[in-house]
Amino acid sequence: MEKIDTWGDTACDDSTWDDWDVPVHCPVSQVPSFLPAQDDNAHNPDTSSALSHTLEPEPLPLLSWDHLECGDKIGSGQCGVTHLGMLTLDDGRTTEVVVKMLHGGSPLTAEARTLQEVAGAGGAPLLHGVATNPNALVMQYCPGVTLQAMLEEYDLQQCYDAYKATVEAVNCFHTAGFYHQDLHPGNIIINTSVLPYTSHLLDLGYTRRFTGQLVRDDNAKSEDLFCLKQIKDQIDAKHY
Ligand SMILES: Nc1ncnc2c1ncn2[C@@H]1O[C@H](COP(=O)(O)OP(=O)(O)O)[C@@H](O)[C@H]1O
Ligand SMILES: [Mg+2]
Repeated sequence: MEKIDTWGDTACDDSTWDDWDVPVHCPVSQVPSFLPAQDDNAHNPDTSSALSHTLEPEPLPLLSWDHLECGDKIGSGQCGVTHLGMLTLDDGRTTEVVVKMLHGGSPLTAEARTLQEVAGAGGAPLLHGVATNPNALVMQYCPGVTLQAMLEEYDLQQCYDAYKATVEAVNCFHTAGFYHQDLHPGNIIINTSVLPYTSHLLDLGYTRRFTGQLVRDDNAKSEDLFCLKQIKDQIDAKHY
């Protein structure tokens, strides 16, 4: 398998919140001290490095389209389109994947680097690699239903259970040293086939590392928590 340049990774710890309501104040007290400063090319994930690094980048796995089949479309947003796919691994086994491509055809190098570095924290999909001609990001398929669909179709208790799982996923993500910046019900998948439900945070194009600067990090964390609060409000509104 060929490689292209990317960065190192980070693991998630398995701490959870006792209380699954969004905390009013959630200081960034657990930011690992090794985290480097953030790069300021925010909000343009695919023309810059999404995460800032002082370490040498690790290579991104470069996948061949010969080993990749693109199936049904499962999502389409402002930036791109996602398909279910099937990837043949080096050992010959096949695995279900999600293939994401941008409308303009640009590479998703920065989002791929982020997925690689986040390394599954917050249930984020693991990166399989990137392909070229056409450019695509290939990631683990996260089974489940979007929180958006749950808000529309599931009952109140199921939505609260999904919310609780999402609070835990966001806590895990933050503890691993990252903030998401684009949390909304379409970017969250809930696996309802397990109890308690588990949550996957998707669409990490705006994800950044905490900087170690307390005020800035607190603000970044608060923005994610505010998004959670908005989701909770949406669920509460189902009462009426
Ligand atoms: N790894 C994944 N596993 C399962 N479904 C996914 C995955 N990634 C994306 N999706 C589906 O595709 C949709 C769009 O993906 P997303 O990364 O949010 O793209 P966009 O940047 O266009 O919003 C999501 O809402 C979700 O339904
Ligand atoms: Mg999205």
